[in-house]
Amino acid sequence: MMNDIREVRGYYPPDDEWPDVSAKMIKEGGIEFKMVDAENIYDAPAFFNPVMVLNRDLAILFAEVYSQKNEVEIRVFEPLAGIGIRALRMAKESSEFISEIVINDFGEISSKIAAYNIKKLALGEKIYQFRREARSLSLDLSEQRFRYHYIDLDPFGPPTPFIDSMWPVMHRRSMIAVTATDMQALCGVYPKACNRKYGGFPLNNHHTHETAARLMIASVVRSAARFDRGLKPIFTSAVDHYTKVFFLSFQQKGAANNAVEIIGYSYTCDNCSQIKYIAGDRRYVDCCGNIEIAGPLWTGDLFDKEWCELAMKQLQIKDLSSKRRIEKLLLEGIDASGLPGYFSMDVIGRRLHVTQPSFKRISEQIISRGYRCVKTRFTNNSFRSDIPGVELMELIKNLVQELKEI
Ligand SMILES: C[S@@+](CC[C@H](N)C(=O)[O-])C[C@H]1O[C@@H](n2cnc3c(N)ncnc32)[C@H](O)[C@@H]1O
Ligand SMILES: [Zn+2]
Repeated sequence: MMNDIREVRGYYPPDDEWPDVSAKMIKEGGIEFKMVDAENIYDAPAFFNPVMVLNRDLAILFAEVYSQKNEVEIRVFEPLAGIGIRALRMAKESSEFISEIVINDFGEISSKIAAYNIKKLALGEKIYQFRREARSLSLDLSEQRFRYHYIDLDPFGPPTPFIDSMWPVMHRRSMIAVTATDMQALCGVYPKACNRKYGGFPLNNHHTHETAARLMIASVVRSAARFDRGLKPIFTSAVDHYTKVFFLSFQQKGAANNAVEIIGYSYTCDNCSQIKYIAGDRRYVDCCGNIEIAGPLWTGDLFDKEWCELAMKQLQIKDLSSKRRIEKLLLEGIDASGLPGYFSMDVIGRRLHVTQPSFKRISEQIISRGYRCVKTRFTNNSFRSDIPGVELMELIKNLVQELKEI
């Protein structure tokens, strides 16, 4: 067994030498770093996407919350790190919460750029860099008994090829954030690809982004269960071109069984938009229209109220550029936990052939009838509510009529 991680194969030390590519300085969060100067991010010899700042801000926020809640300085593993921007920021901006970050990427130029920036920013005592195939490094680290409290898995496309190799390197209790960017498969443009990769069928309708997240969650839960781990999603997002979910992970057979039992199907009425999430095997469900079915997928909560509240509290003392956006995402997590119904005002308006009343008016009416109503950030002009779909359609028809009479 090795005690010094720098002895593990593929360790890539900080370096003064910049690779043979053009360069420019970029600022993100609390750091300024050197990157390739490319016209288009997808043609660049190393990958850096400025749009993913929200994804990185979320990683920083939840890492801090996890550290505080568990009263531990955490060890972080980022197996697909690109040029290492996430780790550079974490090491600098969250230094009191994080004792060590292991990053890895098999790209030659990405690795050189990461090594250069680690050296320039003097972060070599906190960040250990590797140039390896991600899965083989993870299993190697696990064999050498290295363990991590937080893994951030951020691939191009699906996380599914990598996820099985992450569990052995995690502490018994830990946190993992998983991103998927292949939204065309997850949102139903390529249903066969979705079933092949995630083991479930998607739905291309008004709640397609939520279905995407639920399909991804179910596939991650199944992978963890194969290693006797139970997962609990604490924060789920579907923004820009990806879905990202934070899970708590428990090495415990009972927790694994419980999580797997929450996997099932969604049944959506194409007339009144009512959704039913039912765990277990596929079954017959009746409503006023045709029933569209997606799954197997996660039928449980997407958010944990307490964790979202802690993240909201921590966010207030952070200087993150996506603060306002994250606030809205967390607010949904706080207000909508346990609230599965999902309605699109555009879809209902089109179905009833009416111009939709404002969200404010609709939500006032819903709440006055004793139901909950929370705006969702998964798609525009949509909300979550426990009002039955048929009652909602009646309510909107009456509201449109009243507005005409004013
Ligand atoms: C989406 S990028 C990571 C972006 C980074 N996490 C960030 O915040 O900017 C995915 C990275 O995974 C790397 N990669 C893909 N497959 C890999 C593998 N099997 N082993 C190691 N690295 C891999 C690619 O070189 C690429 O840099
Ligand atoms: Zn119906």
